[in-house]
Amino acid sequence: ARHLLGIEQLHPTEITTLLDLADTYADHNTSGHAHREVLAGLTQINMFFENSTRTQASFELAGKRLGADVMNMGMQASSIKKGETLIDTALTLNAMRPDLLVVRHPQSGAVDLLAQKVNCAVLNAGDGRHEHPTQALLDALTIRRAKGRLHRLNIAICGDIAHSRVARSNIMLLGKMENRIRLIGPPTLMPAGIGDFGVEVYDDMVKGLQGVDVVMMLRLQKERMDGGFIPSEREYFHRYGLDAAKLSHAKPDAIVMHPGPMNRGVEIDGNIADDINRSVIQKQVEMGVAVRMAAMDLLARNLREARRDQSVMV
Ligand code: CP
Repeated sequence: ARHLLGIEQLHPTEITTLLDLADTYADHNTSGHAHREVLAGLTQINMFFENSTRTQASFELAGKRLGADVMNMGMQASSIKKGETLIDTALTLNAMRPDLLVVRHPQSGAVDLLAQKVNCAVLNAGDGRHEHPTQALLDALTIRRAKGRLHRLNIAICGDIAHSRVARSNIMLLGKMENRIRLIGPPTLMPAGIGDFGVEVYDDMVKGLQGVDVVMMLRLQKERMDGGFIPSEREYFHRYGLDAAKLSHAKPDAIVMHPGPMNRGVEIDGNIADDINRSVIQKQVEMGVAVRMAAMDLLARNLREARRDQSVMV
């Protein structure tokens, strides 16, 4: 493929190929100079129109560890503030001939649109409520390494499903890999018709967590609730926050995940998040660098191949 826009477009074999490569990056000390030739001579531009800690930092580190020239656009200080459109900004940057464009944008579909206008590889770093493909891939790698497989697992995704691109990408990826997915959360935060996607829906944590292998918690995304119902944090934690009592209904070796940023005492008890016997939250961050290295490595191979073919045709 030319771009990484979403999990929706990926075939299970492509997911496995990417995870296998990410595994090797995770195993062979990703820091240092060992892989500097992979993206040598290529330019990577990171455009984040929404806040980010993990995704932006790990894309930057991944690019640098693979030898790319990495530029972070400070979108707060860009001409977007003077009324320039996303497409005009993208075309301007495209004229500077980048090879890899990493984009986060608050509007669903904005990254797909941008990918149609530029002639470099585009990686979706999260667009609105639509997709966050590298997050789902790093979650998959974390699960595969912890559980030894990525199929026939019982996986609970809990909380604010309606506003979550992380949930959407994970539901697609974990479904493609033939896992059993349960969504647990208040009916007000569950997308309409989600039951048609081959998932089981619960509004009770104790029932939903029975016997699961993986518990994936999500943040309450208040910034996307524009005027709609916002539950009180106390009440929400009482009913849907992950604490020891609720976790005791999952399998004894169930792992606990959270994509971050995490609100302790709202969707997860801080003691559970910090319990190194259960929580793989820091592992997820570590796998984020390896997965982004693998994604950019594979797209760069395709880009170089396409350019070689073009030069042969000319
Ligand atoms: N999980 C995630 O996307 O985190 P950031 O918003 O910090 O990048």
